Amino acid sequence: MKRLAILISGNGSNLQAIIDAVQAGRLQARIAVVISDRPDAYGLQRAERAGIPTVTFPLKPYKKAGRPREEYDADLAGLVGAFAPDLIVLAGWMLILSPAFLSHFPRQVLNLHPALPGQFPGTRAIERAYAAFQRGEIAHTGVMVHWTVPQIDAGPVVASETVPIHERDSLEDLEARIHATEHRLIVRAIEMVLEAV
Ligand code: GRF
Repeated sequence: MKRLAILISGNGSNLQAIIDAVQAGRLQARIAVVISDRPDAYGLQRAERAGIPTVTFPLKPYKKAGRPREEYDADLAGLVGAFAPDLIVLAGWMLILSPAFLSHFPRQVLNLHPALPGQFPGTRAIERAYAAFQRGEIAHTGVMVHWTVPQIDAGPVVASETVPIHERDSLEDLEARIHATEHRLIVRAIEMVLEAV
């Protein structure tokens, strides 16, 4: 059974989609660990409920001690590596990972981004897409899953899907449509790459 390490920072609805797919036998994999940089991430409770080991690994103590970000990333790599994952999934992980982490896992770290390739990198991508639609700059948005590289929300695309925006959409409508798409796409992308790793 292929082993997944899933990194989260918050709600964990994408983590839940992966848990559901594993439990239903739609995804042939074991979630070896869920790691959060935030102790209060709701996703940790979702993992615990599913009997998955969790680790909280906050950045704050490193910052307080004046330690460089690379040290956090290197220690995180050690922590993740100890669970011997075949694949690492950033599912709503909000910290940017430097080569001090990524160099340990070449072509092994998937990231999920709620926009199409090359669009709206960084935080609040859905809000920015919604505003761009209001200004007539884009006709639709989307979701992508890609291999993680040091540049934010860039890297070789594994799967992407267009998401329509309708004239009468509120931001909440669009968010709901994007999240539903993410929940499908992240499971499909993991399935695809697990066949290759
Ligand atoms: C998702 O929209 C993901 O693409 C973005 O952060 C959100 C996380 O949602 N990077 P959740 O924690 O999986 O519910």
